[in-house]
Amino acid sequence: AAQLEGSKGFTKDLCARANIPTAGYLRVSSLQAAGTALDTTFGLPVVIKADGLAAGKGVTIAFTKDDARAALADLFSVPGAEVVIEEFLDGEEASLFVLTDGTALLPFGSAQDHKRVGDGDTGPNTGGMGAYSPARVLTPELEALAIDTIVRPTVDTLREEGTPFSGVLYAGLMLTPHGPKLIEYNARFGDPECQVLMTRLEGDLLEVMLAVAQGRLADLPAPAFSPEPALTVVMAAAGYPGTPKAGGSIENIAAAEAAGATVFQAGTKMDGDRLVAAGGRVLAVTARGATVAQAQAAAYRAVDAIAFPDGFCRRDIGWREVERERG
Ligand code: AMP
Ligand code: GLY
Repeated sequence: AAQLEGSKGFTKDLCARANIPTAGYLRVSSLQAAGTALDTTFGLPVVIKADGLAAGKGVTIAFTKDDARAALADLFSVPGAEVVIEEFLDGEEASLFVLTDGTALLPFGSAQDHKRVGDGDTGPNTGGMGAYSPARVLTPELEALAIDTIVRPTVDTLREEGTPFSGVLYAGLMLTPHGPKLIEYNARFGDPECQVLMTRLEGDLLEVMLAVAQGRLADLPAPAFSPEPALTVVMAAAGYPGTPKAGGSIENIAAAEAAGATVFQAGTKMDGDRLVAAGGRVLAVTARGATVAQAQAAAYRAVDAIAFPDGFCRRDIGWREVERERG
Protein backbone atom coordinates (compact mmCIF):
# COMPACT_ATOMS: atom_id res chain seq x y z
CA ALA A 1 0.00 0.00 0.00
CA ALA A 2 2.97 2.33 0.46
CA GLN A 3 3.16 2.37 -3.35
CA LEU A 4 0.73 5.24 -2.81
CA GLU A 5 3.87 7.33 -2.52
CA GLY A 6 6.26 5.31 -4.65
CA SER A 7 4.19 4.96 -7.83
CA LYS A 8 2.10 7.74 -9.29
CA GLY A 9 0.50 5.20 -11.65
CA PHE A 10 -0.58 3.00 -8.71
CA THR A 11 -2.24 5.97 -7.02
CA LYS A 12 -3.94 7.20 -10.18
CA ASP A 13 -5.34 3.72 -10.91
CA LEU A 14 -6.64 3.49 -7.33
CA CYS A 15 -8.32 6.89 -7.75
CA ALA A 16 -9.98 5.64 -10.93
CA ARG A 17 -11.26 2.45 -9.23
CA ALA A 18 -12.55 4.31 -6.16
CA ASN A 19 -13.91 7.34 -8.03
CA ILE A 20 -11.60 9.75 -6.15
CA PRO A 21 -11.36 13.28 -7.60
CA THR A 22 -7.95 13.79 -9.23
CA ALA A 23 -6.52 15.15 -12.49
CA GLY A 24 -7.43 13.14 -15.62
CA TYR A 25 -4.44 11.01 -16.61
CA LEU A 26 -2.92 8.39 -18.87
CA ARG A 27 -0.04 5.99 -18.07
CA VAL A 28 2.34 5.56 -20.99
CA SER A 29 5.42 3.38 -21.46
CA SER A 30 6.72 4.57 -24.83
CA LEU A 31 7.54 7.90 -26.41
CA GLN A 32 5.28 7.05 -29.34
CA ALA A 33 2.24 6.34 -27.14
CA ALA A 34 2.99 9.53 -25.19
CA GLY A 35 3.14 11.59 -28.40
CA THR A 36 -0.20 10.25 -29.56
CA ALA A 37 -1.80 10.99 -26.18
CA LEU A 38 -0.42 14.52 -26.30
CA ASP A 39 -1.95 15.14 -29.70
CA THR A 40 -5.35 13.53 -29.08
CA THR A 41 -6.20 13.59 -25.37
CA PHE A 42 -4.62 16.55 -23.56
CA GLY A 43 -4.87 20.33 -23.81
CA LEU A 44 -2.36 22.85 -22.46
CA PRO A 45 -0.83 23.24 -20.01
CA VAL A 46 -0.15 19.55 -19.51
CA VAL A 47 1.69 17.81 -16.67
CA ILE A 48 4.37 15.18 -17.33
CA LYS A 49 5.58 12.96 -14.46
CA ALA A 50 8.10 10.17 -14.05
CA ASP A 51 6.27 7.26 -12.42
CA GLY A 52 8.72 6.59 -9.57
CA LEU A 53 10.09 8.72 -6.73
CA ALA A 54 12.01 11.74 -7.98
CA ALA A 55 12.44 13.98 -4.90
CA GLY A 56 9.96 16.50 -6.25
CA LYS A 57 12.04 16.93 -9.40
CA GLY A 58 10.28 14.51 -11.76
CA VAL A 59 7.37 16.79 -12.68
CA THR A 60 7.17 19.14 -15.67
CA ILE A 61 4.30 21.53 -16.20
CA ALA A 62 4.49 22.15 -19.96
CA PHE A 63 2.85 25.22 -21.46
CA THR A 64 3.64 24.25 -25.07
CA LYS A 65 3.52 20.93 -26.93
CA ASP A 66 7.24 21.37 -27.67
CA ASP A 67 8.06 21.63 -23.96
CA ALA A 68 5.90 18.56 -23.29
CA ARG A 69 7.65 16.59 -26.04
CA ALA A 70 11.06 17.62 -24.70
CA ALA A 71 10.13 16.46 -21.17
CA LEU A 72 8.84 13.15 -22.55
CA ALA A 73 11.96 12.60 -24.65
CA ASP A 74 14.07 13.24 -21.55
CA LEU A 75 12.11 10.75 -19.40
CA PHE A 76 12.05 8.08 -22.12
CA SER A 77 15.81 8.35 -22.66
CA VAL A 78 15.96 6.03 -19.62
CA PRO A 79 15.24 2.43 -20.69
CA GLY A 80 12.05 1.00 -19.16
CA ALA A 81 10.69 4.40 -18.13
CA GLU A 82 7.06 4.66 -17.05
CA VAL A 83 5.40 8.04 -17.36
CA VAL A 84 2.10 9.58 -16.28
CA ILE A 85 0.57 12.40 -18.33
CA GLU A 86 -1.96 14.52 -16.46
CA GLU A 87 -4.49 17.23 -16.99
CA PHE A 88 -3.35 20.53 -15.37
CA LEU A 89 -5.28 21.49 -12.23
CA ASP A 90 -5.71 25.15 -11.36
CA GLY A 91 -6.02 26.30 -7.75
CA GLU A 92 -4.17 26.69 -4.48
CA GLU A 93 -2.35 23.70 -2.99
CA ALA A 94 -2.71 22.50 0.59
CA SER A 95 -1.45 19.44 2.44
CA LEU A 96 -3.75 17.41 4.67
CA PHE A 97 -2.38 14.87 7.16
CA VAL A 98 -4.40 11.89 8.34
CA LEU A 99 -3.32 8.97 10.53
CA THR A 100 -4.97 5.64 9.91
CA ASP A 101 -4.71 2.12 11.31
CA GLY A 102 -6.26 0.76 8.13
CA THR A 103 -9.86 1.37 9.25
CA ALA A 104 -10.19 4.42 11.52
CA LEU A 105 -9.03 7.88 10.44
CA LEU A 106 -7.60 10.62 12.65
CA PRO A 107 -7.16 13.99 10.91
CA PHE A 108 -3.76 15.30 11.97
CA GLY A 109 -3.44 18.88 10.84
CA SER A 110 -2.66 20.74 7.63
CA ALA A 111 0.19 22.74 6.14
CA GLN A 112 1.29 24.65 3.07
CA ASP A 113 4.67 24.05 1.48
CA HIS A 114 6.80 26.26 -0.80
CA LYS A 115 8.18 23.96 -3.49
CA ARG A 116 10.04 26.40 -5.75
CA VAL A 117 13.58 27.37 -4.84
CA GLY A 118 13.20 31.13 -5.33
CA ASP A 119 11.24 34.04 -3.84
CA GLY A 120 7.86 34.62 -5.44
CA ASP A 121 7.60 30.87 -6.24
CA THR A 122 10.15 31.01 -9.05
CA GLY A 123 12.89 28.65 -10.21
CA PRO A 124 13.08 24.86 -10.11
CA ASN A 125 11.05 22.59 -7.83
CA THR A 126 12.64 21.39 -4.60
CA GLY A 127 11.64 19.05 -1.78
CA GLY A 128 10.30 22.15 0.02
CA MET A 129 11.90 25.47 1.04
CA GLY A 130 9.56 26.27 3.91
CA ALA A 131 6.09 25.64 5.28
CA TYR A 132 3.50 26.78 7.75
CA SER A 133 0.66 25.15 9.63
CA PRO A 134 -2.30 25.28 9.65
CA ALA A 135 -3.29 25.88 6.02
CA ARG A 136 -6.27 28.11 6.70
CA VAL A 137 -7.33 27.96 3.04
CA LEU A 138 -8.28 24.36 3.83
CA THR A 139 -11.37 25.36 5.84
CA PRO A 140 -13.06 22.81 8.13
CA GLU A 141 -15.69 22.32 5.39
CA LEU A 142 -13.08 21.67 2.68
CA GLU A 143 -11.14 19.37 5.02
CA ALA A 144 -14.29 17.32 5.70
CA LEU A 145 -14.98 17.16 1.96
CA ALA A 146 -11.41 16.02 1.23
CA ILE A 147 -11.65 13.31 3.88
CA ASP A 148 -15.02 12.07 2.61
CA THR A 149 -14.21 12.12 -1.11
CA ILE A 150 -10.47 11.36 -1.12
CA VAL A 151 -8.90 9.95 2.06
CA ARG A 152 -11.69 7.67 3.32
CA PRO A 153 -12.27 5.98 -0.07
CA THR A 154 -8.49 5.46 -0.35
CA VAL A 155 -8.20 3.76 3.05
CA ASP A 156 -11.41 1.72 2.53
CA THR A 157 -10.46 0.55 -0.97
CA LEU A 158 -6.96 -0.54 0.07
CA ARG A 159 -8.38 -2.48 3.04
CA GLU A 160 -11.13 -4.09 0.95
CA GLU A 161 -8.56 -5.13 -1.67
CA GLY A 162 -6.49 -6.92 0.99
CA THR A 163 -3.62 -4.42 1.21
CA PRO A 164 -4.56 -2.20 4.17
CA PHE A 165 -2.50 0.95 4.73
CA SER A 166 -1.59 1.98 8.25
CA GLY A 167 0.52 4.98 9.14
CA VAL A 168 0.64 8.57 7.97
CA LEU A 169 -1.20 9.64 4.85
CA TYR A 170 -0.14 13.02 3.50
CA ALA A 171 -2.64 14.09 0.86
CA GLY A 172 -1.34 16.81 -1.48
CA LEU A 173 -4.53 18.60 -2.55
CA MET A 174 -5.40 21.13 -5.22
CA LEU A 175 -8.31 23.28 -4.09
CA THR A 176 -10.08 23.76 -7.40
CA PRO A 177 -13.37 25.55 -8.12
CA HIS A 178 -14.86 22.02 -8.33
CA GLY A 179 -13.66 21.02 -4.86
CA PRO A 180 -10.47 19.43 -3.54
CA LYS A 181 -8.65 17.11 -5.94
CA LEU A 182 -5.79 14.76 -5.10
CA ILE A 183 -2.40 15.67 -6.63
CA GLU A 184 -0.36 13.02 -4.86
CA TYR A 185 0.04 11.01 -1.68
CA ASN A 186 3.08 10.71 0.52
CA ALA A 187 3.15 7.80 2.98
CA ARG A 188 4.90 9.88 5.68
CA PHE A 189 5.00 13.32 7.24
CA GLY A 190 6.61 15.72 4.77
CA ASP A 191 9.85 17.59 5.16
CA PRO A 192 9.50 20.50 6.13
CA GLU A 193 5.78 19.98 6.92
CA CYS A 194 6.65 17.68 9.82
CA GLN A 195 8.62 20.44 11.54
CA VAL A 196 5.63 22.80 11.68
CA LEU A 197 3.17 20.06 12.67
CA MET A 198 5.38 18.90 15.55
CA THR A 199 5.89 22.49 16.69
CA ARG A 200 2.11 22.77 17.11
CA LEU A 201 1.37 19.27 18.48
CA GLU A 202 0.55 19.39 22.19
CA GLY A 203 -0.24 15.74 22.88
CA ASP A 204 2.06 12.72 22.92
CA LEU A 205 2.97 11.57 19.41
CA LEU A 206 4.21 8.19 20.63
CA GLU A 207 0.83 7.30 22.11
CA VAL A 208 -0.88 8.06 18.80
CA MET A 209 1.65 6.14 16.73
CA LEU A 210 1.31 3.14 19.05
CA ALA A 211 -2.47 3.21 18.56
CA VAL A 212 -1.91 3.29 14.76
CA ALA A 213 0.40 0.28 14.95
CA GLN A 214 -1.93 -1.66 17.24
CA GLY A 215 -5.18 -0.87 15.41
CA ARG A 216 -6.68 1.15 18.31
CA LEU A 217 -7.00 4.50 16.59
CA ALA A 218 -10.81 4.57 16.91
CA ASP A 219 -10.45 4.81 20.72
CA LEU A 220 -8.33 7.97 20.60
CA PRO A 221 -9.57 11.56 21.01
CA ALA A 222 -8.76 14.19 18.39
CA PRO A 223 -5.15 15.35 18.75
CA ALA A 224 -4.49 18.70 20.46
CA PHE A 225 -2.71 21.23 18.28
CA SER A 226 -1.81 24.73 19.41
CA PRO A 227 -4.07 27.31 17.75
CA GLU A 228 -0.90 29.34 17.17
CA PRO A 229 0.49 28.96 13.66
CA ALA A 230 4.02 27.65 13.16
CA LEU A 231 6.31 28.57 10.28
CA THR A 232 9.60 27.07 9.15
CA VAL A 233 12.29 28.45 6.85
CA VAL A 234 14.67 25.99 5.18
CA MET A 235 18.32 27.05 4.95
CA ALA A 236 19.82 25.17 2.01
CA ALA A 237 23.39 24.82 0.79
CA ALA A 238 24.40 26.95 -2.22
CA GLY A 239 23.68 25.06 -5.43
CA TYR A 240 20.55 23.25 -4.18
CA PRO A 241 18.42 21.76 -5.83
CA GLY A 242 21.36 21.09 -8.17
CA THR A 243 24.61 19.91 -6.58
CA PRO A 244 24.76 21.49 -3.10
CA LYS A 245 28.06 22.82 -1.79
CA ALA A 246 29.24 20.50 1.01
CA GLY A 247 31.21 21.45 4.10
CA GLY A 248 30.09 25.05 4.64
CA SER A 249 30.44 26.07 8.29
CA ILE A 250 27.37 26.79 10.42
CA GLU A 251 27.49 28.84 13.63
CA ASN A 252 25.21 30.42 16.21
CA ILE A 253 22.44 27.77 16.34
CA ALA A 254 22.25 28.26 20.12
CA ALA A 255 21.77 32.01 19.71
CA ALA A 256 18.98 31.38 17.18
CA GLU A 257 17.23 29.00 19.58
CA ALA A 258 17.67 31.28 22.61
CA ALA A 259 15.10 33.62 21.07
CA GLY A 260 12.49 30.82 21.07
CA ALA A 261 12.93 29.22 17.66
CA THR A 262 13.69 25.54 17.09
CA VAL A 263 16.40 24.71 14.56
CA PHE A 264 15.88 21.23 13.09
CA GLN A 265 19.05 19.87 11.52
CA ALA A 266 18.79 17.62 8.46
CA GLY A 267 21.87 17.99 6.24
CA THR A 268 24.53 18.64 8.87
CA LYS A 269 27.47 16.78 10.35
CA MET A 270 30.34 17.43 12.76
CA ASP A 271 33.77 18.06 11.26
CA GLY A 272 35.93 17.84 14.38
CA ASP A 273 34.16 20.31 16.66
CA ARG A 274 32.70 22.36 13.79
CA LEU A 275 29.13 21.98 12.55
CA VAL A 276 29.12 21.86 8.72
CA ALA A 277 26.65 21.41 5.89
CA ALA A 278 26.28 17.87 4.50
CA GLY A 279 23.28 17.93 2.22
CA GLY A 280 20.92 20.07 0.17
CA ARG A 281 18.36 21.20 2.71
CA VAL A 282 20.51 21.79 5.77
CA LEU A 283 18.45 23.47 8.54
CA ALA A 284 14.74 24.09 9.15
CA VAL A 285 14.38 27.17 11.36
CA THR A 286 10.98 27.01 13.01
CA ALA A 287 8.93 29.35 15.22
CA ARG A 288 5.40 29.92 16.46
CA GLY A 289 3.53 33.21 16.81
CA ALA A 290 0.10 34.66 17.51
CA THR A 291 -0.25 35.25 13.76
CA VAL A 292 1.56 33.87 10.72
CA ALA A 293 3.22 37.29 10.33
CA GLN A 294 4.58 37.01 13.88
CA ALA A 295 5.71 33.39 13.40
CA GLN A 296 7.40 34.50 10.16
CA ALA A 297 9.17 37.41 11.89
CA ALA A 298 10.37 35.12 14.70
CA ALA A 299 11.64 32.49 12.25
CA TYR A 300 13.55 35.07 10.19
CA ARG A 301 15.03 36.64 13.36
CA ALA A 302 16.44 33.20 14.14
CA VAL A 303 17.61 32.72 10.52
CA ASP A 304 19.43 36.05 10.70
CA ALA A 305 21.16 35.00 13.93
CA ILE A 306 22.69 31.96 12.17
CA ALA A 307 26.00 32.32 10.35
CA PHE A 308 25.96 29.98 7.32
CA PRO A 309 27.77 31.91 4.58
CA ASP A 310 27.51 29.05 2.07
CA GLY A 311 23.76 28.75 2.62
CA PHE A 312 20.67 30.54 1.38
CA CYS A 313 16.95 30.65 2.08
CA ARG A 314 13.78 32.13 0.66
CA ARG A 315 12.81 35.42 2.32
CA ASP A 316 9.06 35.11 1.66
CA ILE A 317 7.93 31.90 3.36
CA GLY A 318 4.29 32.32 4.37
CA TRP A 319 3.61 35.17 1.93
CA ARG A 320 0.13 33.98 0.93
CA GLU A 321 -1.05 33.77 4.50
CA VAL A 322 0.63 37.02 5.56
CA GLU A 323 -1.16 38.78 2.67
CA ARG A 324 -4.47 37.24 3.72
CA GLU A 325 -3.90 38.38 7.32
CA ARG A 326 -3.35 41.92 6.08
CA GLY A 327 -6.73 41.62 4.35
P1 AMP B 1 3.96 15.82 -7.35
O1 AMP B 1 5.36 15.27 -7.37
O2 AMP B 1 2.96 14.96 -8.01
O3 AMP B 1 3.55 16.29 -5.99
O4 AMP B 1 4.03 17.19 -8.16
C1 AMP B 1 4.88 18.24 -7.74
C2 AMP B 1 4.18 19.56 -7.92
O5 AMP B 1 3.78 19.75 -9.28
C3 AMP B 1 2.88 19.68 -7.14
O6 AMP B 1 3.10 20.08 -5.83
C4 AMP B 1 2.13 20.72 -7.95
O7 AMP B 1 2.60 22.02 -7.65
C5 AMP B 1 2.53 20.41 -9.36
N1 AMP B 1 1.53 19.50 -9.99
C6 AMP B 1 1.58 18.15 -10.01
N2 AMP B 1 0.51 17.65 -10.68
C7 AMP B 1 -0.22 18.71 -11.10
C8 AMP B 1 -1.43 18.86 -11.86
N3 AMP B 1 -2.10 17.81 -12.36
N4 AMP B 1 -1.88 20.11 -12.09
C9 AMP B 1 -1.21 21.20 -11.63
N5 AMP B 1 -0.08 21.13 -10.91
C10 AMP B 1 0.43 19.90 -10.66
N1 GLY C 1 7.76 18.70 1.32
C1 GLY C 1 7.22 17.65 0.55
C2 GLY C 1 7.71 16.30 0.89
O1 GLY C 1 8.26 16.03 1.93
O2 GLY C 1 7.51 15.44 0.06
